[in-house]
Amino acid sequence: MQCLHYDKTTLYMENVALSELANEFGTPLYAYSFKQLISNYKRFDDAFGDYPHTICYALKANSNPTILRMLAKSGAGADVVSGGELFFALESGIKPEKIVFAGVGKRDIDIEAAIKIGIRGINVESEMEYEVISDIASRLNRVAPVSLRINPDIDIHGHPYIATGRHGDKFGITTDAALTLIDRIKSDDYCDLVGLHAHIGSQIKEIKPYESLASTMASLAKKAIDTGHRLEYIDLGGGFGLDYERALTVDINAKGDDDLSLDPSEVIPKFIDAVKDTGVHLMIEPGRALVANAGVLITEVLYLKKTGETNIIIVDAGMTELIRPSLYSAYHGIVPLEIRDADTMVADVVGPICESGDFFAREREIQHVGRGDCLAVLTTGAYGYSLASNYNARPKSIELLVRGQRVKVIRERQSLEDLWNE
Ligand SMILES: Cc1ncc(COP(=O)(O)O)c(C=O)c1O
Repeated sequence: MQCLHYDKTTLYMENVALSELANEFGTPLYAYSFKQLISNYKRFDDAFGDYPHTICYALKANSNPTILRMLAKSGAGADVVSGGELFFALESGIKPEKIVFAGVGKRDIDIEAAIKIGIRGINVESEMEYEVISDIASRLNRVAPVSLRINPDIDIHGHPYIATGRHGDKFGITTDAALTLIDRIKSDDYCDLVGLHAHIGSQIKEIKPYESLASTMASLAKKAIDTGHRLEYIDLGGGFGLDYERALTVDINAKGDDDLSLDPSEVIPKFIDAVKDTGVHLMIEPGRALVANAGVLITEVLYLKKTGETNIIIVDAGMTELIRPSLYSAYHGIVPLEIRDADTMVADVVGPICESGDFFAREREIQHVGRGDCLAVLTTGAYGYSLASNYNARPKSIELLVRGQRVKVIRERQSLEDLWNE
Protein backbone atom coordinates (compact mmCIF):
# COMPACT_ATOMS: atom_id res chain seq x y z
CA MET A 1 0.00 0.00 0.00
CA GLN A 2 1.16 3.56 -0.55
CA CYS A 3 -0.63 6.28 1.39
CA LEU A 4 0.84 9.18 -0.61
CA HIS A 5 0.15 9.88 -4.24
CA TYR A 6 -0.15 12.74 -6.66
CA ASP A 7 -3.56 13.21 -8.20
CA LYS A 8 -2.79 15.33 -11.24
CA THR A 9 -0.50 17.89 -9.61
CA THR A 10 -1.62 17.75 -6.00
CA LEU A 11 -0.11 15.54 -3.29
CA TYR A 12 -2.64 13.48 -1.36
CA MET A 13 -2.48 11.38 1.76
CA GLU A 14 -5.27 8.82 1.31
CA ASN A 15 -8.13 11.08 0.06
CA VAL A 16 -6.97 14.33 1.56
CA ALA A 17 -4.96 16.98 -0.29
CA LEU A 18 -2.06 17.86 1.97
CA SER A 19 -2.24 21.52 0.89
CA GLU A 20 -5.71 21.68 2.49
CA LEU A 21 -4.23 20.51 5.77
CA ALA A 22 -1.50 23.15 5.58
CA ASN A 23 -4.12 25.85 4.91
CA GLU A 24 -6.43 24.74 7.67
CA PHE A 25 -3.99 23.82 10.43
CA GLY A 26 -0.87 25.84 9.59
CA THR A 27 2.67 24.55 9.42
CA PRO A 28 4.81 22.80 10.50
CA LEU A 29 2.47 19.83 10.85
CA TYR A 30 2.74 16.09 11.02
CA ALA A 31 0.14 13.96 9.23
CA TYR A 32 -0.17 10.17 9.51
CA SER A 33 -2.13 7.73 7.38
CA PHE A 34 -4.44 5.37 9.25
CA LYS A 35 -4.47 2.83 6.42
CA GLN A 36 -0.70 2.73 6.12
CA LEU A 37 -0.27 2.14 9.86
CA ILE A 38 -2.75 -0.70 9.91
CA SER A 39 -1.35 -2.24 6.74
CA ASN A 40 2.23 -2.10 8.10
CA TYR A 41 1.19 -3.91 11.28
CA LYS A 42 -0.78 -6.52 9.37
CA ARG A 43 2.14 -7.27 7.06
CA PHE A 44 4.27 -8.27 10.03
CA ASP A 45 1.47 -10.10 11.80
CA ASP A 46 0.53 -12.12 8.72
CA ALA A 47 4.15 -13.14 8.19
CA PHE A 48 4.05 -15.21 11.41
CA GLY A 49 1.20 -17.42 10.17
CA ASP A 50 0.19 -19.71 13.05
CA TYR A 51 3.43 -19.41 14.96
CA PRO A 52 2.82 -17.99 18.48
CA HIS A 53 4.19 -14.47 18.51
CA THR A 54 3.90 -10.93 19.81
CA ILE A 55 4.82 -7.80 17.90
CA CYS A 56 6.07 -5.49 20.62
CA TYR A 57 5.93 -2.05 19.00
CA ALA A 58 8.93 0.09 19.98
CA LEU A 59 7.20 3.13 21.43
CA LYS A 60 10.23 5.35 20.99
CA ALA A 61 9.56 5.53 17.24
CA ASN A 62 6.29 7.42 17.76
CA SER A 63 4.33 7.47 20.99
CA ASN A 64 1.33 9.52 19.96
CA PRO A 65 -1.52 8.17 22.16
CA THR A 66 -3.92 7.71 19.22
CA ILE A 67 -1.34 5.74 17.25
CA LEU A 68 -0.60 3.63 20.32
CA ARG A 69 -4.28 2.89 20.82
CA MET A 70 -4.62 1.87 17.16
CA LEU A 71 -1.70 -0.53 17.41
CA ALA A 72 -2.94 -1.86 20.75
CA LYS A 73 -6.33 -2.57 19.16
CA SER A 74 -4.62 -4.39 16.31
CA GLY A 75 -3.00 -6.71 18.86
CA ALA A 76 0.42 -5.13 19.33
CA GLY A 77 2.46 -5.42 22.51
CA ALA A 78 5.07 -2.86 23.52
CA ASP A 79 8.81 -2.48 23.82
CA VAL A 80 9.35 0.27 26.38
CA VAL A 81 12.55 1.91 27.61
CA SER A 82 11.40 4.10 30.49
CA GLY A 83 8.78 4.40 33.19
CA GLY A 84 7.11 6.98 30.95
CA GLU A 85 6.81 4.61 28.02
CA LEU A 86 5.55 1.89 30.37
CA PHE A 87 2.83 4.28 31.49
CA PHE A 88 1.95 5.14 27.87
CA ALA A 89 1.77 1.46 26.89
CA LEU A 90 -0.61 0.65 29.75
CA GLU A 91 -2.75 3.75 29.14
CA SER A 92 -3.11 2.78 25.48
CA GLY A 93 -4.63 -0.54 26.52
CA ILE A 94 -1.66 -2.85 26.03
CA LYS A 95 -1.80 -5.66 28.57
CA PRO A 96 1.21 -6.06 30.93
CA GLU A 97 1.89 -9.56 29.58
CA LYS A 98 2.62 -8.02 26.19
CA ILE A 99 5.12 -5.48 27.48
CA VAL A 100 8.90 -5.88 27.56
CA PHE A 101 11.24 -3.37 29.16
CA ALA A 102 14.66 -2.58 27.62
CA GLY A 103 17.24 0.12 28.26
CA VAL A 104 20.78 0.22 29.65
CA GLY A 105 19.96 2.64 32.44
CA LYS A 106 16.71 1.69 34.11
CA ARG A 107 15.97 3.57 37.31
CA ASP A 108 15.11 1.58 40.46
CA ILE A 109 11.69 3.22 40.61
CA ASP A 110 10.89 2.00 37.06
CA ILE A 111 12.16 -1.53 37.74
CA GLU A 112 9.97 -1.60 40.83
CA ALA A 113 6.94 -0.48 38.83
CA ALA A 114 7.60 -3.11 36.14
CA ILE A 115 7.79 -5.88 38.74
CA LYS A 116 4.63 -4.75 40.53
CA ILE A 117 2.67 -4.39 37.29
CA GLY A 118 3.74 -7.87 36.18
CA ILE A 119 5.07 -7.14 32.69
CA ARG A 120 6.25 -9.97 30.45
CA GLY A 121 9.99 -9.41 30.81
CA ILE A 122 12.60 -6.98 32.08
CA ASN A 123 15.67 -7.06 29.86
CA VAL A 124 18.92 -7.45 31.76
CA GLU A 125 21.56 -5.27 30.13
CA SER A 126 24.46 -5.90 32.55
CA GLU A 127 25.44 -8.16 35.42
CA MET A 128 25.09 -5.25 37.84
CA GLU A 129 21.60 -4.53 36.60
CA TYR A 130 20.65 -8.18 37.18
CA GLU A 131 21.77 -7.84 40.80
CA VAL A 132 19.74 -4.64 41.23
CA ILE A 133 16.61 -6.28 39.75
CA SER A 134 17.06 -9.29 42.02
CA ASP A 135 17.51 -7.05 45.11
CA ILE A 136 14.41 -5.01 44.28
CA ALA A 137 12.36 -8.17 43.71
CA SER A 138 13.52 -9.62 47.01
CA ARG A 139 12.64 -6.39 48.82
CA LEU A 140 9.16 -6.57 47.26
CA ASN A 141 8.99 -10.30 47.93
CA ARG A 142 8.10 -10.85 44.28
CA VAL A 143 9.66 -12.84 41.45
CA ALA A 144 10.94 -10.65 38.60
CA PRO A 145 10.57 -12.08 35.08
CA VAL A 146 13.88 -11.33 33.40
CA SER A 147 15.17 -11.66 29.90
CA LEU A 148 18.86 -11.45 28.99
CA ARG A 149 19.68 -8.85 26.35
CA ILE A 150 22.38 -10.44 24.27
CA ASN A 151 25.01 -8.43 22.43
CA PRO A 152 25.96 -11.02 19.78
CA ASP A 153 28.71 -8.92 18.17
CA ILE A 154 26.95 -8.63 14.83
CA ASP A 155 27.69 -5.63 12.64
CA ILE A 156 24.72 -4.34 10.66
CA HIS A 157 26.97 -2.10 8.53
CA GLY A 158 24.88 0.99 9.15
CA HIS A 159 25.40 4.36 10.80
CA PRO A 160 27.37 3.80 14.04
CA TYR A 161 24.79 5.74 16.05
CA ILE A 162 22.13 3.15 15.26
CA ALA A 163 24.26 -0.02 15.57
CA THR A 164 23.64 -1.65 18.93
CA GLY A 165 24.83 -5.25 18.67
CA ARG A 166 28.63 -5.01 18.38
CA HIS A 167 31.01 -5.63 21.25
CA GLY A 168 31.90 -2.17 22.52
CA ASP A 169 28.36 -0.85 22.00
CA LYS A 170 26.76 -0.04 25.32
CA PHE A 171 23.86 -2.47 24.94
CA GLY A 172 23.41 -5.98 26.30
CA ILE A 173 25.82 -8.63 27.52
CA THR A 174 28.11 -11.00 25.61
CA THR A 175 27.06 -14.61 25.04
CA ASP A 176 29.73 -15.70 27.56
CA ALA A 177 28.32 -13.37 30.21
CA ALA A 178 24.86 -14.68 29.33
CA LEU A 179 25.97 -18.26 30.00
CA THR A 180 27.24 -17.21 33.43
CA LEU A 181 23.93 -15.48 34.21
CA ILE A 182 21.92 -18.44 32.93
CA ASP A 183 23.67 -20.48 35.67
CA ARG A 184 23.36 -17.81 38.36
CA ILE A 185 19.67 -17.14 37.80
CA LYS A 186 18.91 -20.85 38.16
CA SER A 187 19.46 -20.56 41.92
CA ASP A 188 17.85 -17.11 42.32
CA ASP A 189 14.56 -17.21 44.24
CA TYR A 190 13.60 -13.73 43.05
CA CYS A 191 14.27 -13.86 39.30
CA ASP A 192 12.82 -16.13 36.64
CA LEU A 193 14.62 -16.33 33.32
CA VAL A 194 11.67 -16.07 30.95
CA GLY A 195 13.29 -14.74 27.79
CA LEU A 196 16.27 -13.94 25.64
CA HIS A 197 16.38 -10.63 23.86
CA ALA A 198 18.52 -8.87 21.27
CA HIS A 199 18.22 -5.73 19.20
CA ILE A 200 21.24 -5.33 16.96
CA GLY A 201 20.45 -1.95 15.44
CA SER A 202 18.21 0.02 13.19
CA GLN A 203 17.80 0.46 9.44
CA ILE A 204 18.88 -3.12 8.75
CA LYS A 205 18.41 -3.77 5.06
CA GLU A 206 19.94 -7.22 4.70
CA ILE A 207 18.65 -10.54 5.86
CA LYS A 208 22.09 -11.92 6.79
CA PRO A 209 22.58 -10.21 10.17
CA TYR A 210 19.10 -11.39 11.18
CA GLU A 211 19.90 -14.96 10.16
CA SER A 212 23.04 -15.10 12.26
CA LEU A 213 21.21 -13.41 15.15
CA ALA A 214 18.38 -15.97 15.06
CA SER A 215 20.78 -18.89 15.07
CA THR A 216 22.88 -17.48 17.97
CA MET A 217 19.72 -16.84 19.98
CA ALA A 218 18.28 -20.29 19.27
CA SER A 219 21.42 -22.05 20.49
CA LEU A 220 21.54 -19.92 23.64
CA ALA A 221 17.87 -20.69 24.22
CA LYS A 222 18.61 -24.41 24.01
CA LYS A 223 21.35 -23.97 26.62
CA ALA A 224 18.98 -22.08 28.91
CA ILE A 225 16.33 -24.78 28.53
CA ASP A 226 18.91 -27.54 29.13
CA THR A 227 19.98 -25.73 32.30
CA GLY A 228 16.39 -26.11 33.52
CA HIS A 229 14.92 -22.70 32.81
CA ARG A 230 11.30 -22.52 31.70
CA LEU A 231 12.18 -20.14 28.91
CA GLU A 232 9.04 -18.59 27.42
CA TYR A 233 10.24 -16.42 24.55
CA ILE A 234 12.97 -15.22 22.23
CA ASP A 235 12.76 -11.58 21.25
CA LEU A 236 14.75 -10.69 18.15
CA GLY A 237 14.25 -6.93 18.42
CA GLY A 238 13.45 -4.43 15.71
CA GLY A 239 15.56 -2.68 13.13
CA PHE A 240 13.70 -3.60 9.92
CA GLY A 241 14.98 -1.05 7.43
CA LEU A 242 13.28 1.21 4.94
CA ASP A 243 14.36 2.66 1.63
CA TYR A 244 13.93 6.32 2.45
CA GLU A 245 15.22 7.18 -1.01
CA ARG A 246 12.37 5.33 -2.67
CA ALA A 247 9.50 6.89 -0.73
CA LEU A 248 7.83 8.72 -3.61
CA THR A 249 8.95 10.08 -6.92
CA VAL A 250 7.64 13.39 -8.10
CA ASP A 251 5.94 12.08 -11.16
CA ILE A 252 2.36 12.91 -11.73
CA ASN A 253 0.39 9.87 -10.60
CA ALA A 254 3.51 8.28 -9.18
CA LYS A 255 2.49 5.55 -6.81
CA GLY A 256 5.82 4.36 -5.40
CA ASP A 257 5.60 0.95 -3.83
CA ASP A 258 5.74 -0.07 -0.25
CA ASP A 259 9.05 1.31 0.88
CA LEU A 260 9.99 -1.39 3.37
CA SER A 261 13.24 -2.80 2.09
CA LEU A 262 13.08 -6.00 4.11
CA ASP A 263 9.95 -7.93 3.38
CA PRO A 264 8.56 -9.43 6.62
CA SER A 265 7.32 -12.45 4.67
CA GLU A 266 10.97 -13.26 3.91
CA VAL A 267 12.52 -12.48 7.31
CA ILE A 268 9.95 -13.84 9.75
CA PRO A 269 9.86 -17.40 8.33
CA LYS A 270 13.67 -17.49 8.81
CA PHE A 271 13.17 -16.53 12.45
CA ILE A 272 10.56 -19.23 12.88
CA ASP A 273 12.79 -21.86 11.24
CA ALA A 274 15.66 -20.99 13.56
CA VAL A 275 13.70 -21.08 16.83
CA LYS A 276 10.87 -23.56 16.30
CA ASP A 277 12.81 -26.51 17.77
CA THR A 278 12.97 -24.68 21.08
CA GLY A 279 9.17 -24.38 21.07
CA VAL A 280 9.29 -20.87 22.49
CA HIS A 281 7.10 -17.88 21.67
CA LEU A 282 8.65 -15.43 19.19
CA MET A 283 8.74 -11.68 19.64
CA ILE A 284 9.94 -8.81 17.50
CA GLU A 285 10.09 -5.09 18.27
CA PRO A 286 9.69 -3.05 15.10
CA GLY A 287 9.39 0.70 15.52
CA ARG A 288 10.35 2.43 12.28
CA ALA A 289 8.89 -0.25 10.02
CA LEU A 290 5.42 0.21 11.52
CA VAL A 291 5.18 3.99 11.46
CA ALA A 292 7.85 5.72 9.33
CA ASN A 293 6.20 5.55 5.92
CA ALA A 294 2.82 6.47 7.40
CA GLY A 295 3.95 10.01 8.28
CA VAL A 296 4.87 13.25 6.54
CA LEU A 297 6.07 16.56 7.89
CA ILE A 298 4.59 19.54 6.06
CA THR A 299 6.59 22.73 6.10
CA GLU A 300 6.28 26.13 4.42
CA VAL A 301 9.00 27.95 2.53
CA LEU A 302 9.89 31.17 4.35
CA TYR A 303 12.81 32.57 2.36
CA LEU A 304 15.19 31.84 -0.50
CA LYS A 305 18.74 33.06 -0.62
CA LYS A 306 22.07 32.36 -2.21
CA THR A 307 25.36 32.33 -0.32
CA GLY A 308 28.34 31.88 -2.64
CA GLU A 309 27.26 29.24 -5.12
CA THR A 310 24.76 27.63 -2.75
CA ASN A 311 21.02 28.07 -3.12
CA ILE A 312 19.31 27.93 0.23
CA ILE A 313 15.64 27.28 0.88
CA ILE A 314 14.67 28.24 4.42
CA VAL A 315 11.57 26.47 5.70
CA ASP A 316 9.55 26.84 8.88
CA ALA A 317 10.36 23.37 10.26
CA GLY A 318 13.80 22.39 11.42
CA MET A 319 15.77 20.08 13.66
CA THR A 320 13.24 20.82 16.41
CA GLU A 321 10.61 18.94 14.39
CA LEU A 322 12.88 16.40 12.66
CA ILE A 323 16.41 15.87 13.92
CA ARG A 324 17.37 12.79 11.87
CA PRO A 325 19.22 14.65 9.10
CA SER A 326 21.21 16.65 11.69
CA LEU A 327 21.86 13.64 13.92
CA TYR A 328 22.73 10.92 11.40
CA SER A 329 22.86 12.75 8.07
CA ALA A 330 19.70 10.79 7.37
CA TYR A 331 18.06 11.15 3.98
CA HIS A 332 14.40 12.15 3.66
CA GLY A 333 12.63 12.71 0.37
CA ILE A 334 11.30 16.28 0.02
CA VAL A 335 8.55 16.96 -2.49
CA PRO A 336 6.24 19.86 -3.26
CA LEU A 337 2.58 19.69 -2.28
CA GLU A 338 1.76 21.10 -5.71
CA ILE A 339 3.71 20.18 -8.81
CA ARG A 340 4.14 23.15 -11.11
CA ASP A 341 5.38 23.44 -14.59
CA ALA A 342 8.69 24.75 -13.27
CA ASP A 343 12.37 23.92 -13.64
CA THR A 344 14.23 22.27 -10.84
CA MET A 345 16.99 23.84 -8.80
CA VAL A 346 19.74 22.41 -6.64
CA ALA A 347 19.50 23.75 -3.11
CA ASP A 348 20.08 23.13 0.57
CA VAL A 349 16.80 22.87 2.44
CA VAL A 350 17.38 24.25 5.93
CA GLY A 351 15.38 25.08 9.02
CA PRO A 352 15.18 28.32 11.01
CA ILE A 353 17.11 27.07 14.06
CA CYS A 354 20.31 28.82 15.10
CA GLU A 355 22.57 25.87 14.35
CA SER A 356 24.49 25.21 11.12
CA GLY A 357 23.59 21.54 11.57
CA ASP A 358 19.92 22.43 11.16
CA PHE A 359 19.14 21.12 7.69
CA PHE A 360 16.86 18.64 5.95
CA ALA A 361 18.83 18.22 2.72
CA ARG A 362 22.07 19.34 1.11
CA GLU A 363 22.46 19.97 -2.61
CA ARG A 364 19.08 18.49 -3.36
CA GLU A 365 17.47 18.79 -6.77
CA ILE A 366 14.03 20.19 -6.14
CA GLN A 367 11.28 21.95 -8.06
CA HIS A 368 11.72 25.76 -8.02
CA VAL A 369 9.78 27.02 -5.01
CA GLY A 370 8.84 30.45 -3.76
CA ARG A 371 7.88 32.02 -0.45
CA GLY A 372 4.65 30.49 0.84
CA ASP A 373 4.97 27.20 -1.07
CA CYS A 374 4.71 24.06 1.01
CA LEU A 375 6.92 20.98 0.96
CA ALA A 376 6.38 17.49 2.33
CA VAL A 377 9.30 15.85 4.10
CA LEU A 378 8.63 12.16 3.54
CA THR A 379 8.87 9.03 5.69
CA THR A 380 8.83 11.00 8.91
CA GLY A 381 6.37 8.94 10.97
CA ALA A 382 9.21 7.39 13.00
CA TYR A 383 11.75 9.26 15.11
CA GLY A 384 10.23 12.55 13.95
CA TYR A 385 7.84 13.98 16.52
CA SER A 386 9.19 11.60 19.19
CA LEU A 387 12.60 13.29 18.95
CA ALA A 388 11.15 16.80 18.69
CA SER A 389 12.28 19.50 21.09
CA ASN A 390 11.40 23.01 22.20
CA TYR A 391 14.85 24.40 21.39
CA ASN A 392 14.72 28.11 20.49
CA ALA A 393 11.41 28.24 22.41
CA ARG A 394 9.56 26.61 19.55
CA PRO A 395 6.19 25.02 20.32
CA LYS A 396 5.87 21.43 19.10
CA SER A 397 3.78 20.94 15.97
CA ILE A 398 0.27 19.66 15.58
CA GLU A 399 -0.26 15.97 14.67
CA LEU A 400 -3.13 14.83 12.42
CA LEU A 401 -4.50 11.43 11.53
CA VAL A 402 -5.88 11.00 8.00
CA ARG A 403 -8.37 8.24 7.37
CA GLY A 404 -9.97 8.24 3.92
CA GLN A 405 -11.42 11.73 3.67
CA ARG A 406 -11.47 12.33 7.39
CA VAL A 407 -8.92 14.24 9.38
CA LYS A 408 -8.54 14.13 13.14
CA VAL A 409 -6.32 16.24 15.35
CA ILE A 410 -4.43 13.68 17.42
CA ARG A 411 -2.24 16.20 19.20
CA GLU A 412 -2.79 19.94 19.40
CA ARG A 413 -0.03 22.35 18.51
CA GLN A 414 1.70 23.54 21.67
CA SER A 415 1.05 27.15 22.59
CA LEU A 416 3.64 29.56 23.92
CA GLU A 417 1.81 29.46 27.25
CA ASP A 418 2.27 25.65 27.29
CA LEU A 419 5.97 26.20 26.87
CA TRP A 420 6.21 28.95 29.44
CA ASN A 421 4.28 26.97 32.05
CA GLU A 422 6.04 23.63 31.48
C1 LIG B 1 15.52 -2.31 22.23
C2 LIG B 1 14.97 -1.75 20.96
N1 LIG B 1 14.00 -2.43 20.32
C3 LIG B 1 13.44 -1.96 19.18
C4 LIG B 1 13.87 -0.77 18.62
C5 LIG B 1 13.19 -0.29 17.36
O1 LIG B 1 14.06 -0.17 16.30
P1 LIG B 1 13.48 0.16 14.85
O2 LIG B 1 12.69 1.40 14.97
O3 LIG B 1 14.68 0.34 14.01
O4 LIG B 1 12.65 -1.01 14.43
C6 LIG B 1 14.89 -0.04 19.24
C7 LIG B 1 15.39 1.21 18.65
O5 LIG B 1 16.27 1.87 19.07
C8 LIG B 1 15.45 -0.54 20.45
O6 LIG B 1 16.41 0.14 21.10
